[in-house]
Amino acid sequence: MSDPYERSAEYLDIMIAEAWEPLAPALAEVLSVVRAGAGAVVDLGAGSGRGVRVICDALPQVPVLAVEPSAAMRAVLLARVHEDGELRKRVTVVPGDCASTDWPDGVHAVVALNVIGHLPPVQRRALWNRAARQLAPGGVLVFNVTPPFAPTEVERVRMAHVVIGELEYEGWASARPSGADEITWHMDYQVLRQGQVLAGASAEYRWWVATEDALAAEAAEAGLTLRRAGDPVLGLCVLERVSTTSSQWLI
Ligand SMILES: C[S@@+](CC[C@H](N)C(=O)[O-])C[C@H]1O[C@@H](n2cnc3c(N)ncnc32)[C@H](O)[C@@H]1O
Repeated sequence: MSDPYERSAEYLDIMIAEAWEPLAPALAEVLSVVRAGAGAVVDLGAGSGRGVRVICDALPQVPVLAVEPSAAMRAVLLARVHEDGELRKRVTVVPGDCASTDWPDGVHAVVALNVIGHLPPVQRRALWNRAARQLAPGGVLVFNVTPPFAPTEVERVRMAHVVIGELEYEGWASARPSGADEITWHMDYQVLRQGQVLAGASAEYRWWVATEDALAAEAAEAGLTLRRAGDPVLGLCVLERVSTTSSQWLI
């Protein structure tokens, strides 16, 4: 299967950094109140490891399983993990994807940030079902939803601009509808010196879209409740098992 991140891995970490500025404290806050024992945290589609860093800081002691299918992204992820003695001790990097990777028993939390759109609806539902079965009591699945929520055209926009040394790095994004619940993102990455393009790459990602209500309904079918966390612009969603308290049984 072809990997679009093979072409974009050089740029992804620096271009997603800004998005992580508000996301990191919001994720840390969600994780810090989870009471689900000492099981591992699974980071699905861990990318360059920005989430792994946040998880390790928020939950000292807890082991982390970082699942990442792209070899190019794993190169960045492994470099981040290897550089830091604490991460090197606690983070296991697994070459796999959402469907193929087993979770350890008693999973404390599953994190899937900037990833859910990569999953076709069948795989997304399988993920909810698995979380309902395998999360430890009190455990959570944290993901985010970003616009568009329906298959619509997105005009080309510069989504990132970073200066490193003497060079500038730009990321441009546009999208077109490509199916009933699907869009295709087209990304152009450019390296510039004084306005002149030195290098670049383009990539396309298939991305399945859904409203938060539709996702909440899907999750409810699997026995999970959805709640929002953090600033609403982050689109951060937390899934937990529907609790069956004794009072419910009495009704
Ligand atoms: C936009 S990046 C986000 C990376 C990271 N979660 C972050 O927020 O910085 C999406 C990541 O999901 C990974 N990915 C794509 N399809 C996946 C799948 N089916 N299962 C797990 N990860 C997947 C990609 O390889 C890529 O690293």
